[in-house]
Amino acid sequence: MPGLAVFGAQWGDEGKGRIVDFLAQDADIVVRYQGGNNAGHTVETGGRVYKLHLVPSGVLLNKVCVIGNGVVVDPKSLLDELDELRQGGVKADKLFISDRAHVVMPYHRALDALEEAALGAGEIGTTGRGIGPCYVDKFDRAGIRVCDLIDKDDFAKKLKAALEKKNAIITKIYGGAPLSFDKIYAEYCGYAERIAHMAADTSLMVYDALKADKKVLFEGAQGTLLDVDFGTYPYVTSSHPLPSGAAPGVGIGPNMIDKVIGVAKAYTTRVGKGPFVTELLDDMGERIRQKGHEFGATTGRARRCGWLDLVILRYAVRVGGADSLAVTRMDTLGGIGDVKVCEAYQIGGKRVENFPASLEDIAKAQPVYLDFPGWTDDISHIREFEDLPEAARKYIELIEIVCGAPVTMIGVGPAREQCIVREKAF
Ligand code: IMP
Repeated sequence: MPGLAVFGAQWGDEGKGRIVDFLAQDADIVVRYQGGNNAGHTVETGGRVYKLHLVPSGVLLNKVCVIGNGVVVDPKSLLDELDELRQGGVKADKLFISDRAHVVMPYHRALDALEEAALGAGEIGTTGRGIGPCYVDKFDRAGIRVCDLIDKDDFAKKLKAALEKKNAIITKIYGGAPLSFDKIYAEYCGYAERIAHMAADTSLMVYDALKADKKVLFEGAQGTLLDVDFGTYPYVTSSHPLPSGAAPGVGIGPNMIDKVIGVAKAYTTRVGKGPFVTELLDDMGERIRQKGHEFGATTGRARRCGWLDLVILRYAVRVGGADSLAVTRMDTLGGIGDVKVCEAYQIGGKRVENFPASLEDIAKAQPVYLDFPGWTDDISHIREFEDLPEAARKYIELIEIVCGAPVTMIGVGPAREQCIVREKAF
C-alpha cells in the first residue's frame, strides 16, 4: 500500500508545493487532507509559475486529485482557481471533492475579520479566509458540508439556522452588518451546480486505490508549528497539518500511510504573529527575504526570515514521524556569506533541546548557534549531492545528525528538475 505523506516541518511555506509536484510524477493520486485556501503553494514548471490554494499540486501533471474531507472548501476560491488553471492550459478535469468536506461561508470570512479586529494588537495574523471560523462550526456540529450544499432544500434549512446565529454574533457582539440569506443562497446554489459533479466519497476512492497498490501522495498544507496541537498556540491554524491529520482528513486508517517526508527550508520563515527564536531583524533578514522572494503566495505579506532552527526541525521529525527530510532553497543561502544554525535554546540559563509548549518560554529563548562558512557558488545546476560545495554538504549532514533523519531531497532552484534526489520516495 504505497501511501506517502508530505508535510511542512516549520511554519508553512517550506516549498511543499514544489516537492509534491516533483513526487507527483510517480503518483497515481494526490490528496489534500487539511486547511483550505489559506494555503498558497507556488509551483514553477514549463516556464510558468502557478499559485495553488485548494487544488492539490498534482493537478499540473494531470494526476487524479482529491480534496479530502479534512479540507475546508471555499467554493468561489476553488472555482476561480480552476478557471485560472484552465486559462493557463492545465486541464484540471480529474479533481474530486469529498462530499463530507466543510464549506467556507461568507459569515466565516466576516467573523475571521471581526475577530481579528477585536483582538487588536493581539491578533493572530490570519489569512482572513474564514478558515478558523469554518473549523469552529465543524466541531460545533453546525457546519455545512459539500453534500449539504448540493441538496438545495437541506442547504436552505442549514443556511437559515446558521445565519440566525451568525448574524446575532456579527451585529450584537461586533456591531457589524447582517448578511443576507437570499444573496448567499443564490450565490452558493450557483457554486453547488458547478461543483456537484466533483463531489464524491473520496475516502472510498483513496481506500480502493491503496488496496489496488496505486501510489497515493498525501499533501499537507501549512506546517508543524501551525498545527493546532503542536504549533505555537494560539498563533496557529485551526487544523492538523501534521501527517497524522491525513488519516481523519482523508478517511483512511493510519496504517495506510507507510512513508512520511517532512519538508523544511534551509532557513526559517513565518508569516503572522508569534515568537520566532531565530528571527533576523537586521540586513541579513532582508537579504534572505529579497533573495528568496519571501512574500506570501496567498496574502502577499512579507515573511519574517531567520536562520535554520534545528530545535524546530528535530521536533517536527518526532511529532510528524518523518522518515526523511526534503530541504528546499539551499540555493537561496548560497552567496549570502557566513550562515548560522540554531542547535539548541538557552532559556533562563538552561540548555533546552525540545521545543517548549509555553509561548513565554519560546519568547525568552536565546538561540545557541553554530557558525558555518557558507557557500558562494551557484548551486542551481547541481543534481548530485557529491557535487555540492563542501560547506553545503556539511550543512545537510548536520541537519541529518541533529534531527536523526536522512535528507533525501534537496531543492536547488524553483524548477521541477532543480532537485537533488538521494533516494526515490515511492
Ligand atoms: P489562518 O489559517 O488563516 O487561520 O491563519 C492562522 C495562522 O496560520 C496565521 O499565522 C497565518 O499566517 C498562518 N498560515 C495559514 N496558512 C498558511 C500558509 O499556507 N503558509 C504560512 N502560514 C500560513
